[in-house]
Amino acid sequence: MSEALANLLNETRQFPPPAELAANANVTADAYDEAAADRLAFWERQAGRLAWAKQWEQVLDWSKPPFAKWFVGGQLNVAYNCLDRHVEAGRGDKVAIHWEGEPGDTRTITYAELHRLTCQAANALTALGVKAGDRVAIYLPMVPEAAVAMLACARIGATHSVVFGGFSADALTNRIQDATAKVVITADGGYRRGKPSALKPTVDEAVANCPSVEHVLVVRRTGEEVAWSAKDHWWHETVETASTEHAAQPFDAEHPLFILYTSGTTARPKGILHTTGGYLTQTSYTTHAVFDLKPETDVYWCTADIGWVTGHSYIVYGPLSNGATQVMYEGTPDTPHKGRFWEIVDKYQVTILYTAPTLIRTMMKWGEDIPAGFDLSSLRLLGSVGEPINPEAWIWYRQHVGGGRLPIVDTWWQTETGAVMISPLPGVTEAKPGSAMTPLPGVVADVVDDQGQSVPNGGGGYLVLREPWPSMLRTIWGDDNRFIETYWSRFGAGASGGGSGADWIYFAGDGAKKDDDGHIWLLGRVDDVMLVSGHNISTTEVESALVSHPSVAEAAVVGATDPTTGQAIVAFAIPRGSADTAGAAGEQLIADLRNHVAKTLGPIAKPRQIMLVPELPKTRSGKIMRRLLRDVAENRSLGDVTTLQDSSVMDLIASGMSGGKSDED
Ligand code: WT7
Repeated sequence: MSEALANLLNETRQFPPPAELAANANVTADAYDEAAADRLAFWERQAGRLAWAKQWEQVLDWSKPPFAKWFVGGQLNVAYNCLDRHVEAGRGDKVAIHWEGEPGDTRTITYAELHRLTCQAANALTALGVKAGDRVAIYLPMVPEAAVAMLACARIGATHSVVFGGFSADALTNRIQDATAKVVITADGGYRRGKPSALKPTVDEAVANCPSVEHVLVVRRTGEEVAWSAKDHWWHETVETASTEHAAQPFDAEHPLFILYTSGTTARPKGILHTTGGYLTQTSYTTHAVFDLKPETDVYWCTADIGWVTGHSYIVYGPLSNGATQVMYEGTPDTPHKGRFWEIVDKYQVTILYTAPTLIRTMMKWGEDIPAGFDLSSLRLLGSVGEPINPEAWIWYRQHVGGGRLPIVDTWWQTETGAVMISPLPGVTEAKPGSAMTPLPGVVADVVDDQGQSVPNGGGGYLVLREPWPSMLRTIWGDDNRFIETYWSRFGAGASGGGSGADWIYFAGDGAKKDDDGHIWLLGRVDDVMLVSGHNISTTEVESALVSHPSVAEAAVVGATDPTTGQAIVAFAIPRGSADTAGAAGEQLIADLRNHVAKTLGPIAKPRQIMLVPELPKTRSGKIMRRLLRDVAENRSLGDVTTLQDSSVMDLIASGMSGGKSDED
């Protein structure tokens, strides 16, 4: 970026925490002062929330930046912390997981049962020759065995690499090969959109090209016929017949816990490595602090897939280490009907709901009558993650899911950060719709300009982290140089070759701004920032301006090459269910929207073109694929915009999507 991001959006609404939540909150404003007074002592206290087999000697070793060691010399077992200690404390009969299959079948799994299953899986993996430090790939649908498989690996010190069940054979092959996994845990298939969807054939195709794989463990979920080879073992014949006794050995705080691949938009996927003690400390603490989780009374539901970091940190390790009761759902939000999520909230009396902006905007598009048809009064706290949440989507979420009264925590973090970094504290923060607000206690984040200088309030630039944090990635698997290059070379010591005495600064890749109160607003990936007539304009702000129009449910904005302005703003908007978009009404709506953006953000942000579309291309984790939209905006003579409302644009997008399916999330 040649200059700081323009700070265009001016959102002034603010919502204080409900009095009752504030009065009983797990974490109060004191935490900020405590962490500011002594950050390492603060994290040391949070590590003390876990059970350690051996106390650490040093909180942080940062003598070889950017390679951190946390809780040096300490030892613990992650599965012991998530299971055994709750059972030993007499909470074995407490429900750990209310599992809901897509077809409506259910399982209720207590902590004692989850513990037994995990011990069996640990014994079965050991019998297959898996030892501490070996890698195990997990390619499963959202079934309880996914959590069991992860916990069993953690229990025996094997490093898991969960690969999202929607990925292709190529993507799975690359990930298995990069980690040289010894075992793959999969299923015959899972249920998706009302039908069985096979997984085993994809694994068979991948394993044929992965000589490191010695065994494949197969969970029977759909009962469909599968091909079988000498490497294959049924889970129910192997795991479910193994001994339920297993003593968890402690591992070093820096023992590798998991690798999770993140691909961003183009490059070869990066194996993000997380380790044991620091990761569990921060995921456990943030679950307690950000969700105000009360294990005795709350029913928590995170709608993410276990194949993403959100599923790792906020389905498995954070909630289970806190002894939570949670819901886990196998399927899609519109099967068999568009009220499925709200039906589940109602059925299990969910109190804490953690979901993604893309889902909230989809629900907006479907209309508020759908959540209104269910009793959502059990809810007491809402969360959002994955993308900037547009202020109007935030307000809709609060209004139509939160009954106009619930706090929303907009949590900023990444696969790389392992746990939430920037978020309101629900009992403390007066949240602003669309802002992740402030770094959590113990986290030092900032917004800087091109030179790495902190921008003043009201300014925009790059989001950075100035101090190491316990759940930080330790490296990119097998590629320390790429780790330094990707995250530590833009600003600070890493930019000047490391010898300048400057601090090491982590660059997250996101644009952000500080508002007049110093609160942080995420503006999307810096690669997505548009340069229009010499002004850096954030795609997020223009999208939010569009979504603030009553006829728009969702919008994606890209910068397309333009002979006059350098880049021009091209927007794709999905109308709300109620909007009239036929013929002249559609043209009128487009004209209104262009003016609406100009009025909201200023004439500089007025889109050159707006297309009304029924869908947007998304990555599998729900992020808009702007790169594809940019191709559409640039490679096609757009002409009369109204002709583009038809499916031809989307066909073009769809053909681009299938062309890039091999390694794209
Ligand atoms: C990127 C990380 C973190 C778990 C899921 C995504 C974007 C994430 C927010 C938020 C604005 C957000 C950022 C970040 N992002 N949360 N609350 N507000 N943007 O993990 O796939 O590693 O993606 O997601 O751009 O860098 P991920």
